[in-house]
Amino acid sequence: MDLELGGKVVLVTGGSDGLGAALALRLVREGARVALCARGAERLEATASALREAGGDVLAQVTDISRAQEVERFVEAAVARWGRVDGLVNNAGTAAARPFAEVDDAAWEADLQLKLFAAVRTARRVLPHLRAAGGGSIVNVLAIGAKAPGAHSMPSSVSRAAGMALTKALSKELGPAGIRVNAVLVGLIESGQWERKAEASGQSVEALYTKLAKDSGIPLGRVGKAEEFADVVAFLLSPRAGYVSGTALNVDGGLSPAV
Ligand SMILES: NC(=O)c1ccc[n+]([C@@H]2O[C@H](COP(=O)([O-])OP(=O)(O)OC[C@H]3O[C@@H](n4cnc5c(N)ncnc54)[C@H](OP(=O)(O)O)[C@@H]3O)[C@@H](O)[C@H]2O)c1
Repeated sequence: MDLELGGKVVLVTGGSDGLGAALALRLVREGARVALCARGAERLEATASALREAGGDVLAQVTDISRAQEVERFVEAAVARWGRVDGLVNNAGTAAARPFAEVDDAAWEADLQLKLFAAVRTARRVLPHLRAAGGGSIVNVLAIGAKAPGAHSMPSSVSRAAGMALTKALSKELGPAGIRVNAVLVGLIESGQWERKAEASGQSVEALYTKLAKDSGIPLGRVGKAEEFADVVAFLLSPRAGYVSGTALNVDGGLSPAV
């Protein structure tokens, strides 16, 4: 299936590693032009170089997406380079799941800045450009805890639930302008964060993935591949998903108890 993403301009936050980097590669292979951001310059440049070697027209900008001015600069850089925006993927994030009593105000504030306010600000900044392009697609990367928050899952499950409300409300508001807004709810998928966790605990990443799949009881019996996430998000960004808006799609091998 041709996703008809050739020449489209897509912004991916947190695109230097893991799921965001896999998505960027998928988009480059589809002929899209991709702007990536992350805080760490070295890894960002390494990812951007690999994407350019794969033939990509790629912009990489060091950005802390939880800071309003940096969000503004990231979007402006993409618009200055290509003069348009067709898609936005709010992907940057980190795991933050602890017992309620252990989460202080600073941790709540940091998580909401990274996962909610960053998405609010990037969407606000790209909106005039999506309108000017005659429509587009926003994908918010969340976690299955958004629909099914568990014990010891704060602050992330609460930030993610807010992201789901943002997705639905925005889809209602922006639909008339031809702008589709969807969320992808991730279960457990291979990425940089798990590689770092395996290294820190002195085990192989394969052993960690096997343990994660077993302990969490994923019905498909394994942790997901970053490419499987990338395929779903690329589809949601594409005109092939032209009648899909306001959804929150689990990409979790059946793990979530909620449909
Ligand atoms: N993989 C999973 O199993 C899983 C499960 C549930 C939800 N998710 C969500 O999926 C998204 C991608 O996760 P991942 O597993 O691919 O994580 P990852 O491998 O740790 O990659 C995260 C990316 O986000 C960037 N990032 C983090 N904080 C940032 C900030 N403040 N500003 C800009 N960039 C930032 C990182 O680069 P720098 O560190 O250099 O900034 C990196 O490029 C996240 O929102 C995560 O919460 C993933």
